[in-house]
Amino acid sequence: MGFTATVGDRRVPCGDDQAVLDAFLRAGVWMPNSCNQGTCGTCKLRVVSGEVDHRDSPADTLTAQERAGGLALACQARLRSDAVVEPTGGAAGRTTHPLRDLTATVLEIADIARDTRRLRLGLPEPLAFDAGQYVELTVPGTDLRRQYSLANTADEDKVLELHVRSVPGGAATEGWIFDGLAAGDRVAVTGPLGDFVLPGEEEDTGAPMVLIGGGTGLAPLLGLVRTALARDRDRQVLLYHGVRGAADLYDLDLIAEIADAHPGFSFVPALSHEAPPAGTAYRAGFPTDLFVDDVASARGWSGWLCGPPAMVEAGVKAFKRRRMAPRLIHREKFTPADATG
Ligand code: FES
Repeated sequence: MGFTATVGDRRVPCGDDQAVLDAFLRAGVWMPNSCNQGTCGTCKLRVVSGEVDHRDSPADTLTAQERAGGLALACQARLRSDAVVEPTGGAAGRTTHPLRDLTATVLEIADIARDTRRLRLGLPEPLAFDAGQYVELTVPGTDLRRQYSLANTADEDKVLELHVRSVPGGAATEGWIFDGLAAGDRVAVTGPLGDFVLPGEEEDTGAPMVLIGGGTGLAPLLGLVRTALARDRDRQVLLYHGVRGAADLYDLDLIAEIADAHPGFSFVPALSHEAPPAGTAYRAGFPTDLFVDDVASARGWSGWLCGPPAMVEAGVKAFKRRRMAPRLIHREKFTPADATG
């Protein structure tokens, strides 16, 4: 059977065991979303009419009071009747790139930094997405899904590039991507997901941007930076890559090419646990601290943070200290699922 979910004037079918978010996104109807795991609260919606089953919605993200007040997490809730919903934050209902399941082929798997691999996945047909979004890979032989940001720009839609860091004990990394996955293997990919994207071209003011990535949090930032600079080649863009040591840095050639072609772009590799090697322009410290040292005011700028939760939180504080408006701060936190897989 199944039910119908309605937001504004958009109605979509929703299976009995299908999350409301999944139903909307597969139909190409936008609904705010970020973690898709019940932890961020971005997808919180109000159930205007109808019944939902909250399933595994964590009490931290959706309190008992909120449930009683008719709120639900779209990424967890299943419908128990036809329902009318409205998002609590951000707009919903516009047409977006449909969420899809594709079987990709590994074209390349390569070590690019300490405990870090680049994965290039060839798709049987193009996948529409926005730079900064992510996909989920299903770990073979399990129903575990792991999330990896796309390093691509939207026109690179037939070969997806992911940067993967090994997680001790991780089912997807130690048990698969760093142990046995090879060129030619098939990989189940679901995407695109997430809201870590630039504003549409009409709404993009061209104001300066600062982006801070920790470790493989660099991946979506490379897609965002290249997209922003393609829109305005002279835009002021400041990119920080925070890592423990020089061996964790990667894609320095690509970044140098971007810098050569764009005078408004600058890059700061920040080493938190090792002294910068002699003869390099690398800097010592946490990237969020270096940003505060470097920039006196970020009023009117947009800020982009991707990495471990502690780095993202520190970045939000740093941006606010430099007068960035909260609505211009975009964040993508690594979720710890891989460590527990
Ligand atoms: S809680 Fe649903 S997308 Fe994060």
